[in-house]
Amino acid sequence: MLGDFTLTLPTRVHFGSHALDALPEELARYGSRVLLTYGGKSAKATGLYDRVIAALADAGKEIWEVSGITANPTFTKVLEVAHAIREHDVDLVIAVGGGSVIDCSKDASALAWQEGTPEELWARFYYDGEQVAPEDRVTPVGCILTIPATGSEMNRGGVTTNEETREKLEMVGDEVRTIPEFALLDPTLTYTLPRYQMVSGCYDILCHCMEQYFSGDDDCVSDYLAEGVMRAIISATNAAVADPMDYEARSNIMWCATWGLNGVIGIGKDQDWQLHDLGQSISAFTGATHGMTLSALTKAYYRHVLPAGMHRFARFATAVWGIPAEGKTDEELAAAGLDALDAWLRGIGCVMNITELGVTEDMIEGIAAVTPLEESGYHPFTTEEFVEVLRESL
Ligand code: NZQ
Ligand code: ZN
Repeated sequence: MLGDFTLTLPTRVHFGSHALDALPEELARYGSRVLLTYGGKSAKATGLYDRVIAALADAGKEIWEVSGITANPTFTKVLEVAHAIREHDVDLVIAVGGGSVIDCSKDASALAWQEGTPEELWARFYYDGEQVAPEDRVTPVGCILTIPATGSEMNRGGVTTNEETREKLEMVGDEVRTIPEFALLDPTLTYTLPRYQMVSGCYDILCHCMEQYFSGDDDCVSDYLAEGVMRAIISATNAAVADPMDYEARSNIMWCATWGLNGVIGIGKDQDWQLHDLGQSISAFTGATHGMTLSALTKAYYRHVLPAGMHRFARFATAVWGIPAEGKTDEELAAAGLDALDAWLRGIGCVMNITELGVTEDMIEGIAAVTPLEESGYHPFTTEEFVEVLRESL
């Protein structure tokens, strides 16, 4: 049975090859003081930075910038962005980039107006901490997405690495106000992505669907929606790998990313997310690319989950991978579905072991120790079992 829920999706999405044309109308909604946030090289190299600066100048905005937001953004960088928001009292933050830049900006938009030491803010607002209080200020964030993957453009999550504790956790945020107010989604901006980043993002999208799908045993509309998005991202990824300039594929990938994690396909469900928890801890230790941590763990992780969710894994095989059910037991079907996933990941060029991501045997206990334990999915893991999954993934 679909659980009870309240859903608010406040983001104004402008989608398509002319999505940036909507920037002036969006800028007109806000005051004159704007903070622009972006990553390392790509925004300038692609010319996007110049286009955004020109639009801001045309709109008569005062502009401040924080650049150098890295993949797997750090809490130090979140605090730097928060400081800039507060110091310049900006009316709007525009995040230009992927999940890392958008996450960092979202977290900073709330933390800018909180008092406390970095340690206190981390303990109060991350993982199972507090929401931002309704009376507390949150600076609006808008985004221009350059890599489709995380869904950060339409969700409230902001995942941050704490360099001191080596944790990588999500800020609790606010049900509505830490979700971007607007998102410009232009698939042509993704043509410049290196293939490694593109396929990493594509598996992240599929994995978000799987984390939501592999829970519950009821007849739930969310699961049918997830199956549709999973089929779409597999098909679009195959097309984009064959032809990176395929607009149809790139546009489908971008919209799948948003739907993969804007909350709709997981609504009313328990969900899993332990694979993400473990993958994020790997990134905290090694800086590895998020989607590749997921692919490198997938085989071992789902081997542990499979016995508790056999029926759903069998459905995954037929509904997502098109494997005929006739003449097969649930066990055979479920195994065939996971084999199809494994073959697909190898085929598109995902990393399939954590050694390649820089994990060494001596890191394993530490990675498992900082990984949160959840009561979710078909099979709640213990720290010891996370150690087993990590060893099996070396
Ligand atoms: O820094 P630059 O030079 O911009 O390079 C970036 C970065 O190195 C590059 N890139 C981005 N757009 C490009 C481009 N290169 C060429 N052309 C373009 N158009 O790509 C690299 C990766 O960018 P990043 O933002 O890190 O990628 P992604 O969107 O995959 O974000 C990953 C982060 O989001 C978190 C992850 O943990 C990770 O920290 N997640 C956020 C979630 C959320 N908000 O709900 C959920 C996810 O599960 C995930 O945990
Ligand atoms: Zn993810």
